[in-house]
Parts: sequence; structure tokens; C-alpha cells
Amino acid sequence: MSRVAYVNGRYLPHSKAHVHIDDRAHNFADGVYEVILIVGGRMVDEEGHMVRLARSLRELDMVPPMSDRALLNVMYQTVARNRVQEGLVYLQINRGTSPRNHVYDNDKLIPTVVCTAKTVALPSDPENVAGVKVITRPDNRWERVDIKTVSLLPNAMAKTAAMREGAYEAWFVDKDGFVTECTSSNAWIIDQEGRLVTRPLAGLDILPGITRDRVIKLARENDIEVVERAFSVEEALGAREAFLTSTTSFVKPITQIDDSVIGNGHPGTTTRTLLAAYLEFAQNIALENAA
Ligand code: PDD
Repeated sequence: MSRVAYVNGRYLPHSKAHVHIDDRAHNFADGVYEVILIVGGRMVDEEGHMVRLARSLRELDMVPPMSDRALLNVMYQTVARNRVQEGLVYLQINRGTSPRNHVYDNDKLIPTVVCTAKTVALPSDPENVAGVKVITRPDNRWERVDIKTVSLLPNAMAKTAAMREGAYEAWFVDKDGFVTECTSSNAWIIDQEGRLVTRPLAGLDILPGITRDRVIKLARENDIEVVERAFSVEEALGAREAFLTSTTSFVKPITQIDDSVIGNGHPGTTTRTLLAAYLEFAQNIALENAA
């Protein structure tokens, strides 16, 4: 079956889905996006994603192209037309298309809306999930990384550097030596007291990950203490466990940071517990839907 993409009101074969060269996202990265996990044909944490999308639009002085209900309809249509039961749906909203000019006039622009969906398998055996390596890189992004914009060049370059070094991800590190987040996921450690530690949202120096939020809730339900505070690379190197979270990576154990092995070099117990809890939560959404 060939893939179908939504572009500005039309469902098209993926190979024929285009936006104009004068689209402001092409010229100025002037757009926002969401990536949402699909399980059992339903979106996981749909509400959280829609709230974050609305915030991204607001913070960038962009006008929502349609109601949330209509956007959800586009996403579910795209999921259905691609026959995705387990996978990802991608939604991008650009400010609109006009001859290249830094200055924009929202009243004269019609936002571009693009949606795609693809099938991706969930980890089948959380107990035996493999650990990954991350590298560290200076956080050289702009100051509004809390907004989910398509302006992702530093992220793309750091993640490519990671791949070239045989790593899965790169951890961004601020000028004081503290980890902010990864290029496309949030960063976590389990400290020597067994507490779950991740950077707080208040400084606006990380993306408010939807998986991050869900994992905090699941940890508390599992009586795991969560502390939202910054941690340094040095502390991470001596941590019991480390992991990352995102819609596309779920809860992924980290067993190596640069050249140092973390813990005993194997995925930690708490990380595996959280992955299992997250997958169970996601599967329950599918079951509720089927009921
Ligand atoms: N990335 N931090 C950054 C910089 C991200 O790009 C992402 C998501 C996250 C995790 O957010 P969430 O749990 O809501 O997926 C954190 C998506 C998956 C991407 O760009 O493909």
C-alpha cells in the first residue's frame, strides 16, 4: 500500500505531496510541529500534544489554521488512510506562503498544514531492551527551545555527530556543564539516592516533552521519587542509571556517555520498570478504544 499525506486540504500520494518554495517554513523555518504515538489506531496523550501545539502557535504569534477538532480529524484520517495501528503521526503547521520577506502579515497568510503517518513497532520485550550510547555537545540552540518549531539545525547537526560516533543521541550541555536535553528527546538520570532526576521546565531551556510528563506521572504511581533539577555531565557519569524519553524512543536506557560506561553497563532496573509502565499505559489506550 502506498503512503498518503495530507497537504492543505488534500490527501495525496506521498511522492506527490509538496509545499511551495515560498512557504515561510522553507525560507525561515517558520513553522511548528507535533509527533504523536499511535497505539491501536489511537493517539497516546492526545490532549497533551494539542495543548503544546496551541502553545507553540501562540508563542510564535501564529494563527491556528483550524479548530483542534478539525486538526484531530486530519490526523485520524491520515492515520486511517495509511492503515497505521501502531506508529507515529506527524503534523506540521507553517505560517503560510508569500514572496520572501522577513516581515509577515498574519492577516494575509493562509497557514500550510501537512500531516503524515507511518507504522512503527513498539518494543516487544521491555525487560531485554538494549542500552544506547550518547555523546555530549554544547547547547548552541536559540533561547526558545521550549517551543516545538521546525527550526532544528543545531539538533540535526548534533544528532548527526552522534551517529558518526556510533551513538544514538547527543546530550546538549549548557555553559555551566549541566545537561539540558537531547537533540530530539529529554534526558534523565537516577541519582545515587535512587531518585529520578530531570531538568525542570521553568527555565524554558528544554522542550516540555509529552513523554517526560507521562513518565513523571508513571514514576510517582510506581513510588519512584522524582526531582526536577538540573544535573551535570559529571553527576551523570556517576549515576546509577541514565535514560532518555520521547514519542519516538519511548523510554530508552543509556549505558554509555561519551567514553564512560554508566552503572554496570546494562539497562537499569528502574529504567526498565518505567519503559514497561509506559508501554502498558499506551497499550491500555488501545484496549480502551477496542472496548
Ligand atoms: N522530538 N526534546 C526535543 C528537542 C524534542 O525534539 C523532543 C521530541 C523531545 C521529546 O518530546 P516528546 O516526549 O513530546 O516526544 C524532547 C520529536 C519526537 C521529533 O522531533 O521527532
